[in-house]
Amino acid sequence: MVDKLTLKDESRFIVLGSLIHRQFSNLYSLQAILNNPFHYLYGYYRNGKLVGFVHFVQSFEVFDLVNLVVDKKWRKKGIASSLLDYAFANIKDMRSVLLEVRESNKEAVSLYTKYGFQKIHIRKRYYGNEDALIMEKVF
Ligand SMILES: CC(C)(COP(=O)(O)OP(=O)(O)OC[C@H]1O[C@@H](n2cnc3c(N)ncnc32)[C@H](O)[C@@H]1OP(=O)(O)O)[C@@H](O)C(=O)NCCC(=O)NCCS
Repeated sequence: MVDKLTLKDESRFIVLGSLIHRQFSNLYSLQAILNNPFHYLYGYYRNGKLVGFVHFVQSFEVFDLVNLVVDKKWRKKGIASSLLDYAFANIKDMRSVLLEVRESNKEAVSLYTKYGFQKIHIRKRYYGNEDALIMEKVF
């Protein structure tokens, strides 16, 4: 099931986030996110345990999808899709969503393409030796 995160999820939030960024715990504070009305953070729970989350930041009608991750053990079971479905159904005034993804991240690029995101820009060598794709979904 999908629900909002709470402070009780702190350790799982860090474990999962560290799958995306080595510096995740220095970059993101769960408490700060939960206290900010322009941040939207939804988790997928299995037997009460957080196994994936998605995080959006709002800037007026434009939203940035800043992080999306699923526990390695639970991938390819529709969890990222459930998180996106939930967010798109529940966040009001979403007119467009922007995100950035490594060009080589085939799983994520495939997921975002399936959800109607389109490539709008390439940030050359953004990751040192690799390009970043900027993708957008317009509602
Ligand atoms: C990308 C990620 C979030 C997908 O999560 P997931 O729960 O496994 O995704 P779902 O099961 O909902 O899959 C939905 C779609 O994603 C794509 N996808 C997921 N896993 C894939 C894989 N191994 N190969 C190719 N496409 C894949 C497919 O389009 C899939 O649709 P389909 O089942 O009809 O083929 C997950 O692989 C992950 O956490 N990766 C590491 C973190 C990351 O890269 N996040 C994105 C950073 S921008």
